[in-house]
Amino acid sequence: MSRIIIISFRKNSIRIVIAFLSCMILLCGASYFVKSTQTLSLQTKGEYVILASNDLGMHCIQSDYSAFMIFPPGNNLIVQIFAKGKEDAQLITSGITLEYEVNNNTSSADKVNFWKYAEDYGFNIEPDEGITGNKLKGTLTLSKDKKYFEATAIPVVPYNDNQKQVNPYQTVKITVRESSTGKILAIQDNVVLPVSDEMMCSNCHGTEDTDKNILKSHDKKEGTKLYADLTQNNRHSCSECHSDNISNVPDKSNVPSLSLAMHGFHSQTMGMSKLENQCYNCHPGTVTKCLRGVMAANNITCNNSNCHGNIEQVSQSIENGRKPWLDEPDCGACHGPAYAVNPGILYHNSYLINGPDEMNGQIKCTSCHNSPHSEWPSTLTLDNVIPLQLYGKPDFIRQCSACHEGTGKLHGAGR
Ligand code: HEC
Ligand code: HEC
Ligand code: HEC
Ligand code: HEC
Ligand code: HEC
Ligand code: HEC
Repeated sequence: MSRIIIISFRKNSIRIVIAFLSCMILLCGASYFVKSTQTLSLQTKGEYVILASNDLGMHCIQSDYSAFMIFPPGNNLIVQIFAKGKEDAQLITSGITLEYEVNNNTSSADKVNFWKYAEDYGFNIEPDEGITGNKLKGTLTLSKDKKYFEATAIPVVPYNDNQKQVNPYQTVKITVRESSTGKILAIQDNVVLPVSDEMMCSNCHGTEDTDKNILKSHDKKEGTKLYADLTQNNRHSCSECHSDNISNVPDKSNVPSLSLAMHGFHSQTMGMSKLENQCYNCHPGTVTKCLRGVMAANNITCNNSNCHGNIEQVSQSIENGRKPWLDEPDCGACHGPAYAVNPGILYHNSYLINGPDEMNGQIKCTSCHNSPHSEWPSTLTLDNVIPLQLYGKPDFIRQCSACHEGTGKLHGAGR
């Protein structure tokens, strides 16, 4: 029975590869049909691989939400489960339940004041609850395309229980259970869920009353009354007026997007900063060092022109049509077309498409290469926990043996 399914899938997958560029929906629909007809017991001997990552490689939060909000706390955990096999493996998407739990970090609302003001910013949530309802511990759900499990907007903050120092490299424990029996099938602990509040607006806006100074400056230059409103307990989020794709706020005709406004305006002010990496004035940062993947190990920084470029290029590219948050750098720009992301799709949403047919469209780039900015092998040992367990050394998922027997190249194998 399963053989028939696999054969029909093979035929499908050829068509899928051809149709991929024009129709992602066909891909999702077709393989969901296949997956939903397979059962957990198929060829599994009880050995599973948990490949976990997150969407951005670092999530920023504000250390203080009392004056305004750029965006709320919320980290996205992405997990794929494979049952190991001999000639091939199996992506498991049903019959299992996935739980996550942030380690040594059971509360957020007593550490960061977002929840005190959440209602002012339009969120109707309890303390320690994230904007999509997830908490620091919970269950992952199957993604819309039915190929991975996710927990969105986990409200993690960079402060562990009973510890004052900042720790941007929070970790989660992931437990996979058989849904019908509750039996634990696999556990992957210490997966990094990074978050930092190292947003150094204070480098230029004053170390005291930084946020109030920012509002006053905005009012002075734009004729808004954000500061006066604050004194009346009326708080604004920037995306009330500025479009922002990360918060799903669509383009507005007369106000620039938040990314264009911030990078465009501040490109004139960069002379005030002494930092070698300009981006670390607002992105985390000289302490956090969020850029830490294999590219960083090879001295490639944010402002490489094949990555984001310098701050003028970040804003100029938006003027030229780049959609902030939705159009980001492509691995293929440096590694060549065989190693590119899926056309028009972000790296963290892309799947292998030029490997063996059966693997195509199923395995996320981030499952084998980790999150952007922390691509394996990462310079931060903590990031490498999964390859260290699989291979005994830091690497990406290079050897086929992580999932099944096999040798040779992966990218380009299907061509
Ligand atoms: C390298 C220096 C520098 C850094 C870092 C910096 N700013 Fe600014 N920013 C400025 C200067 C200079 C002005 C203009 C001040 C004035 O004329 O009132 C400004 C103005 C602004 C304005 C008003 C712009 C306008 O035209 O309406 C906002 C809003 C702002 N900054 C937000 C921020 C935020 C938020 C951060 C941190 C994420 C930040 N800035 C970090 C230098 C900086
Ligand atoms: C009430 C609406 C409103 C809110 C809220 C608001 N802005 Fe603005 N912002 C504007 C308008 C209007 C402009 C002027 C746009 C123009 O000149 O084209 C502007 C301009 C800016 C500029 C200067 C852009 C440039 O190129 O000169 C920056 C930077 C900026 N806003 C950042 C922010 C940040 C950061 C926040 C949140 C703290 C914020 N804004 C909240 C309405 C708003
Ligand atoms: C003055 C503060 C500031 C500086 C300096 C800065 N950024 Fe940003 N950046 C921001 C803020 C605030 C956001 C979030 C905007 C939003 O929510 O849309 C952001 C968002 C982004 C994004 C996502 C949105 C997009 O346009 O795709 C990228 C990429 C980015 N920054 C790259 C950079 C790079 C690269 C540098 C250094 C060359 C840099 N930034 C320097 C404040 C800054
Ligand atoms: C600005 C150019 C550039 C971009 C963009 C880029 N890389 Fe790299 N990458 C390099 C360089 C240079 C090296 C080190 C030399 C080498 O191993 O090819 C490297 C090394 C690697 C390696 C190690 C290769 C090995 O065999 O050890 C991997 C894996 C990798 N990159 C993955 C990625 C992924 C995934 C992306 C996209 C998220 C990406 N790279 C984007 C330039 C880039
Ligand atoms: C992350 C897990 C994973 C890794 C690592 C992996 N594979 Fe696979 N592979 C799969 C899965 C899952 C399937 C089966 C897909 C299906 O049929 O639904 C598969 C199937 C295949 C098939 C088809 C086998 C058949 O029965 O016809 C080939 C060929 C293959 N892989 C080659 C490779 C090679 C070569 C490597 C190493 C360079 C590799 N794979 C690494 C998960 C993996
Ligand atoms: C199943 C695991 C797997 C998946 C999924 C995967 N890769 Fe790879 N990747 C590999 C392996 C193995 C190599 C080593 C070279 C090869 O086999 O082609 C590699 C190499 C790379 C390199 C480094 C190439 C160099 O020059 O050394 C880049 C960049 C890369 N992959 C990008 C991607 C992108 C982008 C995606 C998604 C579209 C992706 N990979 C999906 C396993 C994977």
